[in-house]
Parts: sequence; structure tokens; C-alpha cells
Amino acid sequence: MSLRAATRDATGAEEVPAVVPVHVGIIMDGNGRWATSRKLPRVEGHRRGVEALRRCVRAARDIGIRYLTIYSFSHENWSRPVTEVSELMRLLKFFIRHDLADMHAQDVRVRVIGERAGLSKDIRALLDEAEALTRGNQGLTLVVAFNYGARQEIAAAAASIAADAVAGRLRPEDVTVELISQRLETAGIPDPDLIVRTSGEQRLSNFLLWQAAYAEFVFLPIYWPDFDKAALVSAVNEFARRERRFGGVVPSPAR
Ligand code: FPP
Repeated sequence: MSLRAATRDATGAEEVPAVVPVHVGIIMDGNGRWATSRKLPRVEGHRRGVEALRRCVRAARDIGIRYLTIYSFSHENWSRPVTEVSELMRLLKFFIRHDLADMHAQDVRVRVIGERAGLSKDIRALLDEAEALTRGNQGLTLVVAFNYGARQEIAAAAASIAADAVAGRLRPEDVTVELISQRLETAGIPDPDLIVRTSGEQRLSNFLLWQAAYAEFVFLPIYWPDFDKAALVSAVNEFARRERRFGGVVPSPAR
């Protein structure tokens, strides 16, 4: 698979895009196909995927993206073979243990969305530690979606609103778009401007369904382990060419 040439200046250096989305969501897809096409076990693709993630975080920070949400493990991923699930759990632990200090030094704030209850005690402790250590950081916010599913997130928000209604704390007319947004795990995080999916697949797969109402989508024809700064720059440049109207008629610049 090929990626069209990233935007480069006269010296061949990657250009920083003129328009940068505040929040980028990434569906890191194609690890398995990357490995299989090289006659490697699928888990090797996930291992190389961690290296791509590291490049992505650094590139997002360099470009000036404020929020980066990465789809690392979905509710539906539990249906994979147990060995693959175990490897993904191991890689999350490895990523946090190995990269947390460096991300902290880069002023990255880590936030985690997804159901913690279904995760092991040691993973929950590591996620808590990552969030606590980086809470005061002001640079890029890295939102790790792990054991995440957007429908489950929306159902939980609806349940919390219903509980308040039953207790007499909310009336039906209090249930607004803003209230629902505040009850989601992403409360306080602006909606994604751009969602990128690698591997050529073109679907959302239960990722940020509510929040993506006005996101632009860019589908890159590369597998996730091949993702690098040039790929991110090319997605952001594509975003910058889009005309966002938010349902209106007056063309508005991407941002
Ligand atoms: C999709 O590729 C990728 C995943 C389900 C997991 C994403 C995980 C990583 C990028 C590495 C681990 C990082 C953390 C933080 C745990 P796929 O396996 O569905 O690929 P395929 O569609 O080609 O089979």
C-alpha cells in the first residue's frame, strides 16, 4: 500500500500544516494485516504498532495538536483469541511503563476513557498512575481509549441521567445536547475535528459516535505500523482543505 507524498517544502523537510485541528482521533487499524503480509504473527503487528504510536504522539505534539485520542482496545476486541488479547494488555502495560516518564517530560497529559471495571487490577493501577502523574501538564492531551465503546459510553450517560430523573434532580426538558456531552467520559474535551483511520477501512467501529457529529474523516491507505509524522501531516493537510459548514451554508475555514 502506498501513501501519497507528504507535503514537503523546497528543502524536502515536512511542512507544518497551516491549519491544525485541535482534536484528532485515530483508529489505529491494520496491525494484523501488516504482520500477515510479512508472514509474521499478528502480535508482531501490535508490537510495531506501539512504535508507530510513539511516533504519532511526538508528531502530534510537534504539529501543535492539543488533543489526540487513540483507539487502543475496543469492547469488541475481547472477542479476539485469548493470546492476542493478552498481548494487547501486555503492550498497554509496556507502553505506560516504558513511555510515561518521557511523555511527562514532553508535557503530555494522559487521560483514559473506557470501562475500567473490566480491566485487571495492575492495569487499572497503571492507568491511574499515568493520569495522576501528568494531571498538571499543559501540552498535548493524549486520550487513551481502552476497553472503550461509544455505544456503551452513551448508554452509561443515559443511565446516569435517568437515575437523576428518577430521583427528581432532572426534568425531561433539562436533557440537552450539552448535558449529554457532560455525562460522557470525554466531558471537558472538545469534540474531535478530525478522525483518521489507517488501513483503508472506512468505518467508525464504535469510536466516539456522539463526539464525531461534525468531525472530518480521513482514511489513509497505510497499515498502522507504517504510520509516521508524514502520514499525520498528510491527514492534517487534507483536513485543512475541507470546507466545514457545521450544517450551515456559509463556508467556514477548517478552523
Ligand atoms: C487494529 O489492528 C489495532 C488494534 C485492535 C489494537 C491497537 C493497538 C496498538 C496500535 C498497539 C498497542 C497499543 C496500546 C496502547 C495497547 P487489527 O489488529 O484490527 O488489524 P487487522 O484489521 O489488519 O487485523
